[in-house]
Amino acid sequence: MNFRITGTGSYLPKRIVTNNDLAKIVETSDEWIQQRIGIRERRIATDETCADMAVSAAESALENAGVRADELDLILTSTVSGDFVSPSTACLVQKRIGATCMAYEINAACSAFLFLLETAAGYFARGKVKKALIVGAEKLSRILDWKDRSTCVIFGDGAGAAVLEAGDGYLDSTFDVKGDDEVLRIPHFHGSSPFDETEAEEPYIHMAGQETFKFAVSSITRDVKLLLERNSLTADDIRYIVPHQANARIIDTAARRLGIPQEKFYMNIDRLGNTSSASIPIALDELSRAGKLERGDKLLMCAFGAGLASAAALIRW
Ligand code: UT7
Repeated sequence: MNFRITGTGSYLPKRIVTNNDLAKIVETSDEWIQQRIGIRERRIATDETCADMAVSAAESALENAGVRADELDLILTSTVSGDFVSPSTACLVQKRIGATCMAYEINAACSAFLFLLETAAGYFARGKVKKALIVGAEKLSRILDWKDRSTCVIFGDGAGAAVLEAGDGYLDSTFDVKGDDEVLRIPHFHGSSPFDETEAEEPYIHMAGQETFKFAVSSITRDVKLLLERNSLTADDIRYIVPHQANARIIDTAARRLGIPQEKFYMNIDRLGNTSSASIPIALDELSRAGKLERGDKLLMCAFGAGLASAAALIRW
């Protein structure tokens, strides 16, 4: 026994920030950002905390599933941009939605939503939970260096959530981690210890763009191929491939290498930018609420990011 996704929810900050808005802050242009990344605008939190967004997405997913908070057996969250190092966003969500179940957070950067699914699958397999809530929430605007044009134009804020209930919807998954802190990292606040002799680094997103790009394309290509082959499927059997929304060119390049039409890949990066671990659940919620998914449809999700971690999962809707 594993699970089926029975409800989804998302929250997007009200404030829309266009490429032209960013061109007033750093030396960039709408044309460069659209051509290189495929983003027109993104949502940026103003009066929302990371937990506020997580709670809104969670409540919307619970309502969508028709599940009450007090029925939940497990809450898992992911973020690299939470309000606190501790308590985790999971604890804040648990408190604010009125749940009493176990709640904790997993850090696997942009791939984390798929790690949450895999972790939840273990509890379902052992019969330990019947209903779970998983949430990816990111306030990346807080950890961006707004003077660095190579990163601040890429990311956006938002949260996505899914309710999982016992069922047979989790079909297969694959995970890969190549321990690396050179290509992509987000240092913590350095602290003020008078004894600390280590080098301080700004607590912002540091990214080697081209290295990340290559890693992303190769992991999507490898993981999609693997899950299709292992399950004797072709792209025609899949309703949508839902990739982490990092860069439209990454998705286009991977689609070309796989020989899969680009329309098969769901994209919303033009409107939302890269929302790290929130991007896949937000995409699922958009697809579901737009009536683009039917029960029984197969979806293939794939993600990659700091770690360097990558993952893919095949589900039956
Ligand atoms: O979710 C986490 C995973 N993250 C990703 O997947 C991101 C992957 N990487 C990328 O998406 C791309 O590498 C970037 C969008 C970050 C950069 O695009 P690129 O085509 O790899 O550009 P580049 O780093 O090679 O830079 C090309 C030029 C440079 O100028 P020079 O040295 O050629 O004069 C940059 O300084 O573009 C310049 N540049 C910009 N110009 C205008 C970098 N950022 C900007 C900008 N506006 N915002």
